[in-house]
Amino acid sequence: MRHLMNPLDFSVEELDMLFDLAEDIEADPAKYAHACTGRKLATCFYEPSTRTRLSFEAAMLNLGGQVLGFSDAGSSSASKGESVSDTIRVISCYADICAMRHPKEGAPMVAAERSRIPVINAGDGGHQHPTQTLTDLLTIRALKGRLGNFTIGLCGDLKFGRTVHSLINALIRYTDIHFIFISPPELKVPDYITDMLREKGITYEEVIRLEDSISQLDLLYMTRVQRERFFNEEDYVRLKDFYILNKEKMKSAKPDMLVLHPLPRVNEISVEVDDDPRAVYFKQAQYGVYVRMALILTLLKSAD
Ligand code: NCD
Repeated sequence: MRHLMNPLDFSVEELDMLFDLAEDIEADPAKYAHACTGRKLATCFYEPSTRTRLSFEAAMLNLGGQVLGFSDAGSSSASKGESVSDTIRVISCYADICAMRHPKEGAPMVAAERSRIPVINAGDGGHQHPTQTLTDLLTIRALKGRLGNFTIGLCGDLKFGRTVHSLINALIRYTDIHFIFISPPELKVPDYITDMLREKGITYEEVIRLEDSISQLDLLYMTRVQRERFFNEEDYVRLKDFYILNKEKMKSAKPDMLVLHPLPRVNEISVEVDDDPRAVYFKQAQYGVYVRMALILTLLKSAD
C-alpha cells in the first residue's frame, strides 16, 4: 500500500504513467465514471482550503465514489485533543483512502505511519503540497509538451509558499531546467533549497524585479504572499502587493510563455491578464481534478 507525502515518492516513470492516466481521463471521462463505485474518500482538513478539498471531492465523485470528512479542525475531534494518529486509525474504519491537510509540517506523515488506508498529503504547513505539484507538472506537460528544457520563474512568496518548495523539489529530476527566483529579499527561497540546487549543479538566479527577467521565461509561476504564515500583519501589508502581473508586463513576455498560479489569487495577477491565452491558471485547476482522479485510482489499486 502506498501513500503520497512528497512528489518524490513517485519515480519519474511512475509520474509519467500517472499523467498518461490523467490525460486518458480527460479524453474519455465516461470510461472512469464508475471506477470507484462503493469506495469512499475521507477529506481531513485541519486548515482552510477551497480548491484542494473540493477538487479531491470532485475527483472521487467523478469516479463514482463517495466522500466524507471535515473541513476545519474546530469541527473535528482535534478540538477535543485527539491526536492525528488516533484520528487516522478511526478514519481507516470508515473510508478507503484519505486526503489530509494540516498546519503542522509532517502531520500527514505521522498519520500515514498509523494508517490502514492510503494517505495523501494535501498540504502540510509551509512544507510540501504534492498534489498541487502533480497538478503543476501535468499542466506543464500537457500545455508545453515537455517536462524539462525550460527556464521557469517562480515569483512572490518563495519563503512560505509550500507549492513552490514542492515544485522545485519535483522539477530538479528533469533535465535542463533553469530557475529564476523572483522575490523581495524577505521572502527568498529557503537556504536548504538553494544549497540543494548548488549541490546538484542546477542553475538558478535570485532577482527582485519581475520586469527584469520576464522576457527570459518559458514559464512564470506566480504565488500569493502567505498571510497566515506571517508573524506580524505589518510585514504582510508591506509585502502583499510587491508584485502585480499586468498586461503591460505581459508585453515583454515570450509569446508562448505560460502563467501558472496554484490559486487562490489575491492581487498578484491583475484580472486583465485572465483573457491572455498565456494565462492558464484556471485550466491548471481543471488539470488538478484529472490528476487527483488518476492518483486516487493508483493508490487504491496499491491497497487492493
Ligand atoms: C495553495 C496552498 O494551499 O498552499 N493553494 C492550493 O492548494 N491551490 C497555494 C496558496 O494557498 O497560496
